[in-house]
Amino acid sequence: MEIKPLNNVMGAEVSGLDLNKSLDQKTIGQLYQAFLDNLLLCIRNQNFPDVGAFLDTAKYFGIPKKQHMESFRVEGHPEAGTVTSEDRDVNDGKRIIRGTMFHTDESFIAVPPKATILYAVNVPSTGGDTRFINMQAAYKALPDTIKSDIQGLTATHYYGKDRGGRKVPSLTARQMRATPPVSHPIIRTHDETGAVGLYIHETMTDYIDGMEPAQSEALLQKLYAHCTENTAFQYRHKWQKGDFVIWDDRATLHAATADYGEEEKRLLYRTMLAGTPPY
Ligand SMILES: [Fe+2]
Repeated sequence: MEIKPLNNVMGAEVSGLDLNKSLDQKTIGQLYQAFLDNLLLCIRNQNFPDVGAFLDTAKYFGIPKKQHMESFRVEGHPEAGTVTSEDRDVNDGKRIIRGTMFHTDESFIAVPPKATILYAVNVPSTGGDTRFINMQAAYKALPDTIKSDIQGLTATHYYGKDRGGRKVPSLTARQMRATPPVSHPIIRTHDETGAVGLYIHETMTDYIDGMEPAQSEALLQKLYAHCTENTAFQYRHKWQKGDFVIWDDRATLHAATADYGEEEKRLLYRTMLAGTPPY
């Protein structure tokens, strides 16, 4: 097994490993440490016979949790979902490429996942990259005045927030009732490494708690721009068939790229690993 950096921002590539074979404790430990150190691992050239084998491998890194988005679950495996070029919105039935705005997965629930894993079964001939932001690096680069302004603040995350017409996949009425607004700290301390990073994103962060709305929106927009417009905090993943990619949802944002046609078949398996309440 070889582990080498993908980029100087975040991410490491693992080669020479077959995840269909059971791993020894030393290898599992090395992989987990590399995940914590790099916030993203791409294990190349995997070939899982089915979703069950993919989920078994995910268990080396944590506990797969049930997908909140019931409409994209895999039958018989509620902890697994698919991301495909043929995804349809649950309400209007229109084709949708999910997650094109920067976000971290499921921050709209009280205990969001610690990590997301995607496995590329099929990728388009070009396009469909995923962009990532290292939110610890973004925090570190903030001016000290802003760091002290946001110290101790919390923000409300809400699936039903007003996005000015920009679309996220619909939830059914029942799912919406099960997804009330939740509050998380703006500066999140990583529960395993102690590193701090920003934990906000325009897709789900609605407002800063206790702040006048215009002031809250102005500060959030400034922070979003800081994080998303500076490519110095970004890594762009070009998918290869067989990639098993795990990233740390506590410290990164990601965004899909909707730049491939419907005729290009893209299929990824997805699971998310249970996390702990942000602090
Ligand atoms: Fe996502």
